[in-house]
Amino acid sequence: MGLVRWPFWAVVCVFLSVPFCLVASEQEQLEDIVQQPVHCERIDNSQWSRPGSANDWEPFHGRIGDRVLRCDCHDSVRTRRSEEYTVDQQQPNLRNAVFVLSSFPATTVATDILIVNCGQLHVPAGTFRSIRAAFLPRTIRFVNIAQLTLDSFAFETDSSTRTQQVVTNPRDPHPILGPITLSFDRCQLDELPANVFHGAAIRSVLFSTSSVGAIRSLAISTRFQQFLLSDTVVGSFSRHAFKRAQMEQLHLHNVTMTGAWASQAWQGLIVGNSIQIRDSRFLQTIHPAAITESSTYWKNALLVVYVLSYSKV
Ligand SMILES: *[C@@H]1O[C@H](CO)[C@@H](O)[C@H](O)[C@H]1NC(C)=O
Repeated sequence: MGLVRWPFWAVVCVFLSVPFCLVASEQEQLEDIVQQPVHCERIDNSQWSRPGSANDWEPFHGRIGDRVLRCDCHDSVRTRRSEEYTVDQQQPNLRNAVFVLSSFPATTVATDILIVNCGQLHVPAGTFRSIRAAFLPRTIRFVNIAQLTLDSFAFETDSSTRTQQVVTNPRDPHPILGPITLSFDRCQLDELPANVFHGAAIRSVLFSTSSVGAIRSLAISTRFQQFLLSDTVVGSFSRHAFKRAQMEQLHLHNVTMTGAWASQAWQGLIVGNSIQIRDSRFLQTIHPAAITESSTYWKNALLVVYVLSYSKV
């Protein structure tokens, strides 16, 4: 599973003359410009709820509500294709289409937003910004996305959200956190950019069976209850990737890290309850100070590290 997929022409360019390659890459980009919104529709919850799996992570997924908004790229392609046959045969090849998640309007009322089955999908900054604070979804799930691009501030929500939370649930042990569980299942991302979760009313972030090329500086600079990675391939942690991040639990289970773990990647990280790194593989050198340098910040945290294999290549 390649983290960075070089287009075929890039490889060919090594062997061919430069002018040819410039033309080839230009054409590739022209085709990539085709963008189309993902069509979302309300679905009956029973169509989607899966039989309960014996999955450790299930409790962290959050409750599945009864107002599910499903945004399915396959369905969007099918709809457009049938239009195309009747309207215009000259449309560009849909396989090159980049789907864009359109901003959810202020009228959006959904307990769960499910985004599924996309080739390339782009989530621009502020996609969720208009959703009213009292109507934020409990879950936003991305499932089966071959190339997912998240912008900085992609999940930003209305800034009045947090004060409203205190009012709606006074018994909440984490009143500063928002209600949203954000999960990524079978998704591939080239990177998590800086501030990708910033200003978002997020409680938990979960990656499972996914790959993330690079976790950039300040990518995780937010407060969460949980940040969990399972069965996931991570390219690298950049310096200060977790700076100003604060969470109860930081768990890495069956994570394979293919690239470097920079010396100050976890500096400035505060974990209140537990850090677990289990059954994980590190294929490159871990900087000797990668963990120890940050340890004074992990107040009272239980640190469990079971590294399955550590091979220096
Ligand atoms: C560990 O994660 C990989 C994906 O990175 C997956 O293929 C494998 O099945 C997982 N192993 C276990 C024991 O779950």
